[in-house]
Amino acid sequence: MDSVQHVGGDPLVIDNLYFSYGQLTIFENLNITVQPGEFLSIIGPSGCGKTTLLNLLSGFLEPDSGSVLLRGTPLKPEDPHFGYVFQHATLFPWLSTIENVEFGLKMAGELSPSEMREKAMHYLAMVGLKGFEDYLPLKLSGGMQQRVSLARALTLEPRLLLMDEPFGALDAITRDDMNDELLVLWEELGQTVVFITHDIDEAIYLSDRIIVLNRPPHGIYKDFKSEIPRPRSGQETRTCDLFWEYKKDLRNDIEEVAKSAVVA
Ligand SMILES: Nc1ncnc2c1ncn2[C@@H]1O[C@H](COP(=O)(O)OP(=O)(O)OP(=O)(O)O)[C@@H](O)[C@H]1O
Ligand SMILES: [Mg+2]
Repeated sequence: MDSVQHVGGDPLVIDNLYFSYGQLTIFENLNITVQPGEFLSIIGPSGCGKTTLLNLLSGFLEPDSGSVLLRGTPLKPEDPHFGYVFQHATLFPWLSTIENVEFGLKMAGELSPSEMREKAMHYLAMVGLKGFEDYLPLKLSGGMQQRVSLARALTLEPRLLLMDEPFGALDAITRDDMNDELLVLWEELGQTVVFITHDIDEAIYLSDRIIVLNRPPHGIYKDFKSEIPRPRSGQETRTCDLFWEYKKDLRNDIEEVAKSAVVA
């Protein structure tokens, strides 16, 4: 059953999901299927439930009813099939860069020390940090630390990569660079990605599909597929007509969602 296939080979299915924090209902009958290898971004105003949704996907939170299934099985936080990248790099300050990258592999406990080192070096090089393996996190910039977090998630070769505003704290130029690097990695590795962001440009630049979340408990406000061709490339993509069209529409959508909260 565990045949080797494209790393993004399974759909992620959110089916009839209900979730509340006590009296506060966040989702009622939420249904989303994320296709294998799809790059899905989720945007929406603060408090609409983006992080909650990601925590439900990863198994950090459990639905009240309904399910989140990958290959027919609920995900658990310790599941090696997914990697999680948080908004702020969550590195152990006392471990070197390479030791931080190896951490998930150590937890999985399947490889010998030399195999772990080889794999960690491979992904560290992929995110452009070859030569920094002995640095402590404090000696790295914010963007470099976030790359270490990304390398750590990638070493597990997850079929599913969950990212919660991973580049939100970076300056605009560094974020654009990280977006390009992420796309190169994604095109090479083919994972399914669920990417949370506040940034409309970032969502359009990266995604195959964008979901705008409504205010709780209304779930999806809009779900659409991007027709911007790939490969995408910097200014050319960011200045194409479709990019501007999506940007205008998404801005309006988010304003509508924000307004509906005031009325409610
Ligand atoms: N542990 C918790 N207990 C109770 N309520 C919570 C908890 N975590 C989040 N909430 C509430 O659930 C709602 C959704 O929160 P969530 O963090 O998912 O929003 P978000 O869309 O990620 O917002 P942001 O864009 O600000 O990160 C908010 O009203 C928040 O106050
Ligand atoms: Mg959040």
